Formats: sequence, C-alpha cells, structure tokens
Amino acid sequence: MEDIAELKLDGKSWKFPVVEGTEKERAIDISALRNDTGYITLDDGYGNTGSCQSQITFIDGERGILRYRGIPIEELAEKSTFIEVAHLIIMGRLPSSAELRRFSDLLTDNELLNESMKHHFEGFPTFAHPMAILSSMINASSCFYPELLSENSKEHFELQAARLLSQVRTIAAFAYRWSRGLPIIYPKPDLKYTANLLHMMFSLPYQDYDLKPEAAKALDLIFLLHADHEQNCSTATVRMVASSRANLFASAAAGVCALWGPLHGGANQAVLEMLEEIHREGDDGSRFIKAAKDKGSGKRLMGFGHRVYKNYDPRARIIKQACDDLLSKLNISDPLLDIAKHLEEAALSDSYFIERKLYPNVDFYSGIIMRAIGIPVEMFTVIFAIGRMPGWIANYREVMESSSSRISRPRQVYMGPTLSHYRPIKERK
Ligand code: ACO
Repeated sequence: MEDIAELKLDGKSWKFPVVEGTEKERAIDISALRNDTGYITLDDGYGNTGSCQSQITFIDGERGILRYRGIPIEELAEKSTFIEVAHLIIMGRLPSSAELRRFSDLLTDNELLNESMKHHFEGFPTFAHPMAILSSMINASSCFYPELLSENSKEHFELQAARLLSQVRTIAAFAYRWSRGLPIIYPKPDLKYTANLLHMMFSLPYQDYDLKPEAAKALDLIFLLHADHEQNCSTATVRMVASSRANLFASAAAGVCALWGPLHGGANQAVLEMLEEIHREGDDGSRFIKAAKDKGSGKRLMGFGHRVYKNYDPRARIIKQACDDLLSKLNISDPLLDIAKHLEEAALSDSYFIERKLYPNVDFYSGIIMRAIGIPVEMFTVIFAIGRMPGWIANYREVMESSSSRISRPRQVYMGPTLSHYRPIKERK
C-alpha cells in the first residue's frame, strides 16, 4: 500500500504522497504544499530537501556508501579509469570497447582551444587564482560554439560534453603556465587524458616532462573519486543554472565558482595550508585540534566533516591508501603526511569529533598526493573541478532531458521591515 504523509495545520488535515527511491530512501512530495495549504517549508542549507530525482549517484552517508550508476566506488577505483567512469556517468553505462574508443577520440579531437583564446589568458594578472581563470575561460569558450544554444540532438550533446571535458583540462594547464610565466604547451594526441594534463603543465618546449606512470595513475584516481557526488553545492548550482536553460558551458562555469569556496572544493587547498601551518609552527597537531574545537578561534579542522557522510567518507579511505602507495613508490617522505595521520588519529579519538560524527573527507589526503606529483597548492581546487566535470555534465543533461523540469526558484520567509514609505533625502537623519 502506498504511504501517505498527513499534515495537520490550523485545524485542517492534508495528505501528501511519499516517494520511494530505488535504494528505499523516502521523501514526502510537498510540491502541492503551498497551493493546498498556503504554507512553504523552511530548510536553511537544504539539509532535508530533495531538489530533484536523479539516476546518477547514490550516497548513503550513514553507511559510508558511494555508487556511480549503481557501481560501488571501491570497484571503480580498483578497476576503472577516469575516462571510462566519465562515460559511465555522462552516458549512463560503462562503455563497450568501441564506445570507449569513440569517446576517447572525441576527447582528443576537441582538446585544442580556439587559438584566439590564448589572448584571453594574457588579460589576467599572473597572481590571479586559477579557479577565477577556469570559470571565466569555460564561459568564454562557449562564445566559440554559438550552436550550443540552438541545437539539442543527442549527438550534439555528446560532442559538447566531450569538448567541455577535454578543454577544461587544456584551460587548467594553460592557466597554470600563465601564472608561472611559462610558454604554453599544447596537448599531445597520443597521451591519455591525465598524462596529457601533466604534460601540458610540466613539459618545456625543449624537454618533455618525465612522466611517471604511478603519478599519472594516482591523479587519474583523484579525478575518478571526484567525478560525481550527487547534489553537493556546485552540482546543485549547475542544475540551478541549467534550469534557466543556460548553456552547458555557462552552467559548468557557475559550478566552478561554487566549488571554489573553502567549505567545498576549496577545502583541499585549505587542508594543505593548514598542514603547512602546523608544520611551520612546530605543532604536532594538538594545538590545532584544540583551536578547531573552540568556536571563537575561527578555525576548523579542514578536510574533516561532511554534510552527508556521518561515517568515514569512502573516498577518503581509498585516497589515504593511494597516498601511502604513491609516496612509497616515489620514495618520498613527507612530514605533512605524518602530521595528517596524527591529526586523524587524535580527532577520531576525541569526543568533540566523535559526538559530531566528523570523519576525514575526500580532501584530507588528496593534497599530499598532489604535492608529491608537483602540483602547486593553488591548482588543487582546479584538479577537483576537472574531476567533477562528468558529474556536472550528467546533471546538466538530466535537467535538460527531464520533461518535468521547471526553473529552480526557491521561496523565502521574509524577515525584513514591514511597509515603510520613501522619505526625501533632506528629511533623513
Ligand atoms: N572542524 C571542527 N568542527 C567542525 C568541523 C570541522 N571540520 N565540521 C563541522 N564542525 C562542527 C560545527 O562547528 C558544528 O558544531 P556545533 O554542532 O557544536 O555547532 C557541527 O560540527 C556540525 O557542523 P555544520 O557546519 O553544521 O555541518 P555542515 O553539514 O553544515 O557542514 C562541512 C559540513 C561544511 C563540510 C563542515 O564539516 C566543514 O566546514 N568542514 C571543513 C571544510 C571541509 O573539509 N570541506 C570539504 C567538504 S567535502 C567537499 O566539499 C568535497
């Protein structure tokens, strides 16, 4: 029998249907609430609000489960690659060999930016944050494809998706080169997606970067683990912008801006800066933990806590292992890794963190991997943005293909002044 939620208000009663997801998550469908009752719901930060029905990613934060299109993240991390996972997320299924070849070819064919885009980079100061450049350049890139707004066939969407996925990497590398005053290095069509990024970031015109397969594999894993995470702040932003029927590039550029904040994607940069600060000050982490528990200090243990995971973030577990493996393969001993492990151990046995169910999240160890590869701290969030692109693209697609999708337009409870009247300037104090 179908469940019904009953609401009693002002001496009357209303019934609302209960919607059940494929993993038995339950939601009360309140889409008729305002119309029927005159009330709206208030849910600051949307902790209890399902903004859509989606088929892409499943998370169970209590049990520490993450699955893309039904497949556990642990299996994908062990057996797959970022590009295969991007196909899974965007197209809805793991590719056959022919599909994977076609998708890879599409990425390679679209990896170059229009040459005149190069001049745009020159307009940014070299000290500009690469996330600002990334969002601007993704948006600017849409100017070169006016058909973005007019065509909407399946083939056209897949071309635009591949173009965006491929070019975000080229833009990221060019932004880095510009910030360092280095000549731009073009992509090499024979290199795989992640190796190509490292080549564009670190090769010199007269000397190819010494590509270490372990480093490329670890970075590919970071991309894969970030590829989607259901309705987080940036993905919800992408969907919000898409709901106005803005184009794919404009929606993704908005996602980059949302991701930049230190409470979201910017946390990976903040984690490394925190670890560096602890190291510089000769602290073993104990003083920092004390400060993070003190609300007046303005500090938080960055890389800890999550809106959805009230258990160990499964991505953090995989990244921690990958971090240990990479550092040992590259024979690197990083004092920041020791500090991170000590912080984790101390926090996980501290009642403040236990009671609030604060565990390491995906950002806690990813920075140490990126540091070992030679990626500078200011590029960390850019790496996250490249990884998250398949999720943004797939969510954009869901919005565009849903027959019931409407423009996203939340309401509010107004708490400002009640009616007051305009006073001429000379009568004002
Ligand atoms: N350090 C110290 N205290 C924390 C932390 C932390 N990292 N995170 C949460 N808390 C405390 C809060 O102060 C609050 O305490 P209170 O109940 O006594 O007031 C309680 O835990 C709940 O925290 P909220 O901020 O309400 O949790 P919310 O779900 O809104 O925030 C967030 C989640 C933003 C991730 C938060 O845990 C945080 O700021 N973490 C650090 C930044 C971070 O690592 N962000 C990356 C998130 S993952 C991602 O975007 C890829």
